[in-house]
Amino acid sequence: MEYRGSSAYDNESFYENYMRRRNREDNPNYVIEEPVILELIGDVTGKHILDLGCGDARFGKELAKQGCAYYEGVEGSSHMVRSALQQLDPACSRIHHASMEAWDYPARHYDLVVSRLALHYVEDLQLVLGKIRHALKADGRFVFSVQHPVLTSCVKSAEASGKRLDWIVDDYFKEGERTEPWIGEQVVKYHRTIEGYYQALRNAGFHIEDIRECVPRLERFRDEEEYRRRLRIPLFLVFHCGLKA
Ligand SMILES: C[S@@+](CC[C@H](N)C(=O)[O-])C[C@H]1O[C@@H](n2cnc3c(N)ncnc32)[C@H](O)[C@@H]1O
Repeated sequence: MEYRGSSAYDNESFYENYMRRRNREDNPNYVIEEPVILELIGDVTGKHILDLGCGDARFGKELAKQGCAYYEGVEGSSHMVRSALQQLDPACSRIHHASMEAWDYPARHYDLVVSRLALHYVEDLQLVLGKIRHALKADGRFVFSVQHPVLTSCVKSAEASGKRLDWIVDDYFKEGERTEPWIGEQVVKYHRTIEGYYQALRNAGFHIEDIRECVPRLERFRDEEEYRRRLRIPLFLVFHCGLKA
């Protein structure tokens, strides 16, 4: 069976395995991606934030701790929505159980839209970018991460077992659907080149302020060997955008 969008996360064993990995202290999302996201979003005090594909909303809890005024998450998986509701204070947060393609976005409402490792599940990225643009205030910011295009180009390395020391890049310029074996299931993701993301953002009316490939930092690792391994293959691509005047 092939899983699309959030459906894999509603498979009980996939969800449990994913959460076990995600919550490990040495998970690359915490060690490599999260510091870059936090640096780019900066001070969130008093901000109204929307998180697309928010998962269990642990990030929402962190943003609340940092002083954001209100946090909303859009999430397609009912397992994730249930976990998210347990994390958050309903007085200053809300979770919408919906796909980010179909959700009805309010106009000029948010100071910040974030999305962490969810937009590579979306087939029609241009549609979702248009909705995000519509939902941001004029001085709003959009910060998101996706799996690095080096990883999504080709599934041959994902099919091999064991720790990866290198990665096959193939079909790089053929954007589109890839079915990847992940956590014991076949999961559909969408490969786009860096240029493809950049152009889609520009076409949707965004001004790109920064692009990051999440260079691993030694001080974030407990194990130097793992740090050296993580210098080999880029895992994440992050964009920081504002709206074009
Ligand atoms: C890799 S997880 C990341 C979760 C969270 N952002 C984090 O960083 O911990 C991807 C999340 O995106 C959700 N997702 C994927 N496609 C979606 C869609 N089209 N609409 C809403 N949620 C989606 C999945 O259900 C899953 O919770």
